[in-house]
Amino acid sequence: MNSLVEDSSWSVLRRDGVAVVLAHPERGLPLVLHWGADLGELTSADLWGLDSATSRQTAPGTLDSAWRPSLLPQESDGWAGRPGLLVVADGVPLFPRWIVDEAERATAELAVTARDAKLGLTLRSHLEIGTGGLVLLWHELTNDGPNPVDVHWLEATLPVPRSADHLTQFTGRWSREKAPVTTAMPGGSTARQTRRGRSGHDAPWVTVASLGTPRNRAGETWATHLGWSADVTHRVDHLTEHPTLLGAGELVRPGEIRLATGETYRTPVAYFAWSPAGLDGVADRFHTWMRARPQHVTSPRPLVLNTWEAVYFDHSPTKLERLARRAAAVGVERFVLDDGWFHARRDDTAGLGDWVVDHDVWPDGLDPLAGLVHELGMQFGLWFEPEMVNLDSDLARAHPDWILSNPAAVPSPDGLSFRTQYVLDLANPDAWEHLRSQISALVTQLGIDFIKWDHNRDLVEPVHPGPDGVLRPGTHVQTYAAYALIARLKADHPGLEIESCSSGGGRTDLGILQFTDRVWASDSNDPLERQDIQRWTSLVLPPELIGAHVGPSPTHSSGRATDLSYRVATALQGHAGFEWDLLSCTDDELVAVAAYAALYKELRSLVHTGTVVHADTVDPALRVTGFVSPDRTAGVWTVATVASPLEVLTERVRLDGLDPALRYSVQVRDEAGSARWNGWVTPGWLGKDPIDLPGSVLTGVGLQLPTLWPMQALIVQVTATTPAE
Ligand code: DGJ
Repeated sequence: MNSLVEDSSWSVLRRDGVAVVLAHPERGLPLVLHWGADLGELTSADLWGLDSATSRQTAPGTLDSAWRPSLLPQESDGWAGRPGLLVVADGVPLFPRWIVDEAERATAELAVTARDAKLGLTLRSHLEIGTGGLVLLWHELTNDGPNPVDVHWLEATLPVPRSADHLTQFTGRWSREKAPVTTAMPGGSTARQTRRGRSGHDAPWVTVASLGTPRNRAGETWATHLGWSADVTHRVDHLTEHPTLLGAGELVRPGEIRLATGETYRTPVAYFAWSPAGLDGVADRFHTWMRARPQHVTSPRPLVLNTWEAVYFDHSPTKLERLARRAAAVGVERFVLDDGWFHARRDDTAGLGDWVVDHDVWPDGLDPLAGLVHELGMQFGLWFEPEMVNLDSDLARAHPDWILSNPAAVPSPDGLSFRTQYVLDLANPDAWEHLRSQISALVTQLGIDFIKWDHNRDLVEPVHPGPDGVLRPGTHVQTYAAYALIARLKADHPGLEIESCSSGGGRTDLGILQFTDRVWASDSNDPLERQDIQRWTSLVLPPELIGAHVGPSPTHSSGRATDLSYRVATALQGHAGFEWDLLSCTDDELVAVAAYAALYKELRSLVHTGTVVHADTVDPALRVTGFVSPDRTAGVWTVATVASPLEVLTERVRLDGLDPALRYSVQVRDEAGSARWNGWVTPGWLGKDPIDLPGSVLTGVGLQLPTLWPMQALIVQVTATTPAE
């Protein structure tokens, strides 16, 4: 067992119901004794007791010392799992033996500086419990030695109890992002890695450990997410003699992070959320933390019309002006002109890189359209894909050396082209400045309020010349250069909002979201797919950051036909809009669209500031999603089906999150279209007039659902009337 220094032997971090307790041994890095429930005030004696209560035995077949893995588990801790750090000099791994120099403590923060003087390495680890109880952990490694060292990885981990016996990970594909897969906790060390240079549609997203299969509203649950928009490793170590470790870190390639003397590598922030209340409790920690950031959007989220599925590349100023007028007439507040407006961009094979208006299609430029949009009282948004270039562009012809790729592979007889496009080397200051100045000029000229920032391909063999002129993997510098470009544009144009899109939801992590204002969750506007894509996106992101549009029927990405009432209810779960040629709508559809616009505006503050609740339902056909105001006096739910309910008497839905001591009026909001179900006599509460019930009934008994048809949704609004007796 590590012997503990009497003086400042402990760190106890506490905030918003969460505690992290660390022991500081004489030698080596702090040991995490606990991450989870707030344990209350702990005396020194309690901490010694906690240490003793959680210490482990030595056993045959294990080290003679019963060490625990440290905050950065390594072989020197007697740790046989994946080390937290792999740093190499001259091809040989280094095995640091850390001596802690300094531990700076605050109520909910700890910064530890440790050195290995012999190896010339300094490690600084920062652990913090943020608002809402979300734990943030990152490390910095500095090379103080005379020779360069290569960092192969530096990852953040925290322990969870061995009783967490299930693991949920995410996968997905284009138009079907964020699909969870739950398995029994795998034994040994497992690493889930992605190498796409963006998060990707199959991004690990969040790793969840739970007692039994995870539930929405109950059960201890631990989760981790990495705030990084490129290659990642999500890791789980479930060794037989240790607590299980959950963790994540940036995936770097050999030679990518070479530290010269005095240089530092800082990891992305790894986020850890623990909750006693299931997945909703985990999401609540993320949402609370996100909403407390100074840069978080607080103005009402404007109702959007995006032109992509309305016109694709077929740009006609006359038609788009008519569309803008129609959009304004039904209540749209932000008009976004998608791909197709710039030089030679008549399809997706040309033009990327030349961010100047195509005067063949727009003889008077975009000024008249932007002017009209503003005159109509809407914001004007424009699509860019700044990190990309087509070989068929003036930019690529002038600067073929700005392409981020193995030069041997461009142009690409061997298939490294991707949507006929390549990636620009943003770490090249000239390329970066070219983009900045072209985009910035348009923002100023047109008064652009919003940029849809797209990224439609993986990075493949992304090599970039380092300061020594040697070509090295370039994903790390590319990602930071993209962050810096977005940050600079926002700094130069206060009020400009930026959406992170990557062929839909391929880049939605908390790294890019420190600089951007919403995500495009998916290129699927199919409401059935969206029910789950949005649900799992909201495990991390609050609804106001999740772009959710109403498309036409049948849906372009899946061919599925759905009722408008289902499509609008699904879009209500996020930052809503339309991606639809509203000029092609029937009169009835236009009436419904305008009614929806009004309903969205009425309910958006509730959805965008509320606590997100998902009922645990038994029937796999049901998706019950609620948004409850912080004071619990109001709520709105979408009760949706994604298949046919199994039974005639479908289960009752409990409106979790309401105050059992208040009375509420319950009303179905169907002005944009009614849900359909089988049967003549329907549950009484679905009549025309609102009913009035105590919160205790709504949360404890619930509302009887009708046998909804597949792909139907009810919008149920609940408003406190008078306090219950
Ligand atoms: C992919 C995006 O996800 C779409 O919404 C659209 O903007 C296209 N790119 C345009 O090329």
